[in-house]
Amino acid sequence: MKVTYDKYYQTENLFGLPYPELMDFFADQPKTTRVLDLGCGQGRDAIPIARLGFEVTGMDRSQVGIDQMMQVARIENLPLTGITSDIYEIEDLAEYDFILLDSMFHFTKNDRNREVKFIQKIIAKIKDGCHIIFCIQDTGKKVKILNQTVDSNEKLERLADRTFIYTFEDNETGHRSTSDYRMIVVRK
Ligand SMILES: C[S@@+](CC[C@H](N)C(=O)[O-])C[C@H]1O[C@@H](n2cnc3c(N)ncnc32)[C@H](O)[C@@H]1O
Repeated sequence: MKVTYDKYYQTENLFGLPYPELMDFFADQPKTTRVLDLGCGQGRDAIPIARLGFEVTGMDRSQVGIDQMMQVARIENLPLTGITSDIYEIEDLAEYDFILLDSMFHFTKNDRNREVKFIQKIIAKIKDGCHIIFCIQDTGKKVKILNQTVDSNEKLERLADRTFIYTFEDNETGHRSTSDYRMIVVRK
């Protein structure tokens, strides 16, 4: 199957460094817990979270991204597992304490229903006490739709909502751009 990101990930560390806000959040959590990074890409988040001592599973349909992530995991002997799969097919979510979804939702007209249903499926399948961490670009109606989706579920408690700026640097072209981002954390 042709996977768009397999081509993009010819550029190493395409998305650059993890957000400090996200790392600060994990630094404060108990390290005896399990993290699932859905759409982990090249491991921009999964690798540093595993370095903190969490047992991390990263899932992505890009084999190239998973291979790059697992190469680092092997060299550093990190508690990190990579799975090449379609995240929308996942059923086993009850074993995790944290579900991370970084830059995974865009809520375009075509994708909105599917994405909202997927979030609802995650909420239904995670155990009580599990956190979901959404990092999402704050443009258009994205945050509004995400908020509506989580706030309409009475099982969720909202723990954090942080704004920050993400700087993207294209090493090949030298192009640099910034975008407003949000990190929203909820707990079931
Ligand atoms: C914008 S990138 C974000 C990667 C990573 N979360 C980060 O922030 O660095 C989106 C990632 O989601 C993956 N992806 C998109 N839809 C997917 C799906 N249905 N199943 C598995 N991976 C998917 C892509 O392959 C890509 O690696």
